[in-house]
Amino acid sequence: MDPRLTLIDETGEFLREKAAGFKPEIGIVLGSGLGKFGDSIEAIETIPYADIPNFAHSTAIGHKGNFIIGKVAGKVVCAMQGRFHFYEGYPMEQVTFPIRVMARMGVKTLFVSNAAGGVNPGFKIGDLRIIDDHINTMPNPLIGPNHELFGERFPDMSCAYDREIIAKAEAIAAELGIPLKKGVYLANTGPSYETPAEIRYYRTVGADAVGMSTVPEVIGARHCGLRVFGMSIITNVANHNVETVKLNHGEDVVRIADAAADKMSMLFTRLVEAL
Ligand code: HPA
Repeated sequence: MDPRLTLIDETGEFLREKAAGFKPEIGIVLGSGLGKFGDSIEAIETIPYADIPNFAHSTAIGHKGNFIIGKVAGKVVCAMQGRFHFYEGYPMEQVTFPIRVMARMGVKTLFVSNAAGGVNPGFKIGDLRIIDDHINTMPNPLIGPNHELFGERFPDMSCAYDREIIAKAEAIAAELGIPLKKGVYLANTGPSYETPAEIRYYRTVGADAVGMSTVPEVIGARHCGLRVFGMSIITNVANHNVETVKLNHGEDVVRIADAAADKMSMLFTRLVEAL
């Protein structure tokens, strides 16, 4: 057997036991400052990453490092309060590991969230944005022998973000009076923020927001055939010129994300209910 699958299944088995018969159908990844949604989950079990076999540890600021199995709007979900980033030094296999574990646990839909810098000049601090496509500048997480059991060698990415879920999210946001636009998320490795020239370049190639995460998980999820819904909170206007105030991930990004997290939580709850 593929040794990678042995590890995935060992972790899946551990989490399945913790779930005590409940089977999560939706997986949720909560990014920088967005862990708050996890507190609204009616938890069946909350497991620190350090206690989960084969899991990495979340070292990023604003990431609590808990795997929660619980209920949202009566549906069983599992949620990661914090993710693993390539910039932390984890190989892509480790960054995407929890997604494959979720897929083996029976998850069919993945929600991903992140804090991102606004590249589109129309994006403002505190905005919630649906990710409707991405540009990947990171190493592709599927490089290496194909995980045959999960998906094909050359998975299609023409519709990575589920149109039906996006339409539902837009309808719910309109009902709740939450302004919600869509945009293209560009992922780079970080951890350094972008230069003004890089931001101009990203704008030119069609990015609306920029960040250091999410896309590896989305590629991993699409490879397994999961439906994906993605959302960004715009925590800063990315460095358009040298006058821009310097960013501090530990303070500014996490604080702004935290302030917008309630809106995102409301939306996620209603969306889980509607699926
Ligand atoms: N750039 C990259 N990642 C980010 C940013 C940014 O401006 N803001 C939050 N995450």
